[in-house]
This record gives sequence, structure tokens and C-alpha cells, in this order.
Amino acid sequence: MPPTNNNTTIDAGEPTSEDQLTHIRRSSLALDPAWDAETNSLRHLGDLDDDDLIPIAYFPLKANLNEAPKTKQEGLHPSASAGDVSAYSQGSSDDIWQNVPMGAPDAILGIAQAYRQCEDPRKVNVCVGAYRDDAGKSYVLPSVRAAEKMLWESQEPKEYLPIEGDKDFVRCALKFAYGPNMDIDTHVAAVQTLSGTGACAIGGRFLAQFWKNHPIYVPDPTWSNHISIFNQCGLDCRKYRYYNRSTNALDLEGMLKDLNRAKDGSIFLLHACAHNPTGCDPSLEQWKEVIDVVRQKHHVCFFDSAYQGFASGNAEVDAQAFRYAVSQHVPILLAQSFAKNFGLYGERVGTLSVVCGDAEQRDHILSELRLIIRPLYSSPPRHGSSIVKTVLMDPALKEQYYEECAGMALRIQKMRVKLVQALQKAGSQHDWSHITGQIGMFAFTGMNEAMCQQLTDEFSIYLTMNGRISMAGLNQKNLEYVAASIHVVTDGKSISL
Ligand SMILES: Cc1ncc(COP(=O)(O)O)c(C=O)c1O
Repeated sequence: MPPTNNNTTIDAGEPTSEDQLTHIRRSSLALDPAWDAETNSLRHLGDLDDDDLIPIAYFPLKANLNEAPKTKQEGLHPSASAGDVSAYSQGSSDDIWQNVPMGAPDAILGIAQAYRQCEDPRKVNVCVGAYRDDAGKSYVLPSVRAAEKMLWESQEPKEYLPIEGDKDFVRCALKFAYGPNMDIDTHVAAVQTLSGTGACAIGGRFLAQFWKNHPIYVPDPTWSNHISIFNQCGLDCRKYRYYNRSTNALDLEGMLKDLNRAKDGSIFLLHACAHNPTGCDPSLEQWKEVIDVVRQKHHVCFFDSAYQGFASGNAEVDAQAFRYAVSQHVPILLAQSFAKNFGLYGERVGTLSVVCGDAEQRDHILSELRLIIRPLYSSPPRHGSSIVKTVLMDPALKEQYYEECAGMALRIQKMRVKLVQALQKAGSQHDWSHITGQIGMFAFTGMNEAMCQQLTDEFSIYLTMNGRISMAGLNQKNLEYVAASIHVVTDGKSISL
């Protein structure tokens, strides 16, 4: 139906190639309210209200834009209407976006797409950062399903959440992260976020505004999105040594040196557990050394906790690094995700919290976080946070959840052992013990880019080119095939730099 405005049917006309029409999509512009009869010209967009109508209008190329768009009554093309978008493809030669370059594809999502297109029946996806069960299927936790049923039965509303999200969810999430002894009402300013990515982005913006001119250091290597996120926030993003590829182990010495060398008050992004991509975490003793230097240098810790509970199978153990840091009174931000540990990948549920001195500081920080969020997406989605809240507030469901989460972690740990056994069975002479020593979703195998490429090209095994494989993508059916293929590409070659 053509849009009407003040009882006038707007007919924007239909561009054709012969009369070389150009189109102008006035996406927040209504035709009639935009027309200033007094000056006989278009009013400035800023004069319009949010609620003005949004038709699409087309104007002849050489038309005088100061001429009012014609109405049906004035005899423009009778077959076209203001809602007819079919002409859009015809007039694209003079498109204003013609100079937009093709952006680089996302490394990980591009591999996932190549996997989908691959027709080799042997194909294996060990790139995916999402849990799969032993049949290779994606998995919804039964406790999550039960919570959804409860929400359905209680007629969960669809109203907007406040800017900072669902208060009860945030409270449950903070208890889950910081433990029962933290005075979250006084010492934690927190908002619900669009999963862990959103939490990093909100935290990054907050730091760019309120901890200005301090660089943020991320581990080398790290989840590649960290660098994009913090750059986009306007932070000066640098790397600190984290992993030694010649020993396939944590480079604690290098890490401590870099913490010491950084100028006082720098920000350090720390993976709370299950470091992505290496699966290599400091022990608690090593964390203590790290936090000691952080305290001496007045650094700020930005913990990214994307795998709490999913790493060891015990949410308390996986929280020990940042809980220890809190106990040492170093400045802390925490990005929390419920994508992996609750299997709520697509629901986009997480929190960003800032540990602070007192309730007044908390209110100030919260007010600024609201100001960051409001123009970005106004308020977070509610279904995922309702699920997490329902699970964590119901004692029986919470207990069930803990068992299910531990079950995912256990399956992955078993796969580590089985992969190393299968590699040995395939005849590999390498020491693969780092794979069983690592934790979380990924194994950082030590394979170089050429080996990874060969695995993809010759064996249809899809992985990132840094040698990272998703343990969740391995199962009884594909384990031996993957191990035998890895043996072929690594046999007689080094798996360390
Ligand atoms: C270290 C790390 N941080 C954050 C995330 C963010 O994930 P999401 O936005 O899905 O919670 C991921 C996901 O892979 C991750 O590995």
C-alpha cells in the first residue's frame, strides 16, 4: 500500500534507464513534513521529528531538488508507488556507495563458510568456537530448555529492559563471577551487555573516556577480535608476551617483563581462564606473580571471562584469577559472557562490571556506562538474560546446570587425552603433552600455517591457520581421521618454532 500523508497519496515515480534517473533514498525523511511551502524548498533533516513517515522517493537526475516531489494527482508514473523498491537495482550506476571497498572477510567465519561449501564427506570442522556433543551436534543444555519452558509458562513479557539491563540477572551474574563474599551493591558497577564481545566493547569505550592516554596490552596471541574491538574504541592496543611457541607453554618470564616495562597505569587484558587460542593458563601461583606486578605498577586489569565453568568444569575454580586480583585491590574491569558456559551463543548475554571504591563511585560509573550504551543499542535483549536468571535463581535448576556445564568440560578434557592417544596410535613421534596440559575449548597444537593449509586442502579439515583446533569439534566418529591426518602433515617436521 502506498504511504499516505495528510491524506495525500505520494507517488515517487519509478526511475528508468532511458531517462537516467537517479534515486535518493530519504530514509528518515517524510515527504510532506520535509517540504517547506514558505521557502519552496526541502527542510533540513534536523527539522524533522523521529516520528515522521519514512517513504522512499525517487527524483529525476536533472531535477531541481528544490521542486516538490510530485503527487499522483500531478500525474507522475501511475504504475509506481513510493513503496516500489524494484527500481533500486536499475539506477545503481551512480550509487553513492560505489567507492566503498570490499572489507577483509572475518578469518574464522570465512573458514566456517568454506567448510559448509565443502562437499568432501570426510570434512571436519575444528574451527568452530561452539560446543558440539559427541555426535557432532550443537547442544542446548536441558536446564536452559527447562528455564525457557518456565518463561513461556509465566508469559515472559517483551517490554524493553532498562539501559543497564535486567537488575536481577546482573545480580545473579555478578554472584556467579565474584562469588558470595563480594559486596556487589557497594563495590561493583555493572551492566548487562551483548555477550562477551559487547562487554569488551563497552569496557573499551569506558576506558577510552575515563582512563585516557593509557595503552591497552593484549596477550600475544589473543582472540583476534580483541584487537579490532579496542582499536575501534580508540584505545592504543599493544601486545604483551604470553606464549612461547618454541616450548608450547606459557611465557611467564616474558609476560612479567612486559608488565614491568609498560608505563605505570597501563591496561592489561587478561583472559580469566581457558586462554583463547592457546588453552594455556597461568597456575594460581603464576597469577599471584602477575597480580603482584600489576599492583606495583598501578596497572588496570581488564579480565575477559568467556569460559567460566566451561574450562575446568567448576565455575569457582575458573574464577580464581580475577577473584584473587579483586582480593589484592587492583583496579578491575570484568567482561563476562554466557555464550559458552550456558550454550547461549546466539542470545547475546553477558555483563561488563567495574570494581570500585564505594557506592557513590558505583553510581557515577553506572551513569556513564548508561550514557555509552544508550546511543549504541539503547538497551539489551531480554530473553537470554531471563534464561540465565531463571537457572541461577532456582536452586534445583542451578544444580542441574552445574552438572551439565561440567559434562561439557569433561567431554572436552577426554577428547584431549584421546587425541594424543590417537596421534600416538597413528605413529606420531612428537611430544603432544601440551594438548592435555591445555584447557578450554581449544588446543594450540603447534602446527604451522603450511601444515594447517595442507590439512584443509588435502584432508578437508577446517581450522584456523595458527594451528588452533576446537576440541569441541572432535568426536568418536572423526577423532582417528583427524589424528591420522595431523600425523601425515607433521611427520618428520617440527611442531614448535
Ligand atoms: C576470549 C574471548 N572473549 C570473548 C569472546 C566473546 O564471545 P561472545 O561475544 O560470543 O560472548 C570469545 C568468543 O570466542 C572469546 O574467545
